[in-house]
Amino acid sequence: MRTPLIAANWKMNKTTVETENFIRSFLPLIKGTTGVDIIIAPPFTSLLSAAILIRATGVRLAAQNVFYEEKGAFTGEVSPVMLLDTGCSFVIIGHSERRQYFSETDEIVNKKIRTVRKNGLEVILCIGESLKEREDNKTFEVLDRQLSGSLDNITLDGITIAYEPIWAIGTGKTATPGQANEAHSFIRKWLDKKYGDIACKTRILYGGSVTPENVDSLMAEPEVDGALVGGASLKPDSFAKIVTGATKK
Ligand code: 13P
Repeated sequence: MRTPLIAANWKMNKTTVETENFIRSFLPLIKGTTGVDIIIAPPFTSLLSAAILIRATGVRLAAQNVFYEEKGAFTGEVSPVMLLDTGCSFVIIGHSERRQYFSETDEIVNKKIRTVRKNGLEVILCIGESLKEREDNKTFEVLDRQLSGSLDNITLDGITIAYEPIWAIGTGKTATPGQANEAHSFIRKWLDKKYGDIACKTRILYGGSVTPENVDSLMAEPEVDGALVGGASLKPDSFAKIVTGATKK
């Protein structure tokens, strides 16, 4: 019903040459792979080189961030119009690293989603709790707050949700498949309550120390529709293994 989606978030890694080398090695490894959507999110500086190399393939391009205005005096920012122009079809918004290091609030996330959707790009909206919040049994409260703030006055089409518990990001400490499914079920119910039947079409990805070794058990869970992969997406063979692992769903 929902096609699995595997997305690579390279964060602040890879020059343009490294990006090109990755794509040239990666494409043959996934040749003929069907039943899974693939996205690569390189840094801004590599978007154009990546766009040229993946043009004739099914691999789609995402940016890792965006600004909420279309143009103007906002030194250093990049608009959705520019991302479209570069060949992006998706944008990752609200990643916990943006929330933590760049003070991104749910209100800012909401403004970004509005402008991005107005310009026809799709969104991967990241949400997730910290270790302290999980230990304090506040996971659902946090997810509720992030979803309410981020999706205020937004329709659900063109939105993918990525559940990324902060304690699992880059730590090697993956959520158990059961923990991921529990959080995803909460998100699905939340979406269903706000949007009705269309919620069953929304993909909910898991992110946080996903590897070729654990992707199968995560994807086996009914509410896990794919993965947003950081560290393990930086090497072509490891990302290709995750992609092919997801086709078993
Ligand atoms: P890691 O896969 O390196 O834990 O990163 C996850 C992530 O933040 C993807 O957006």
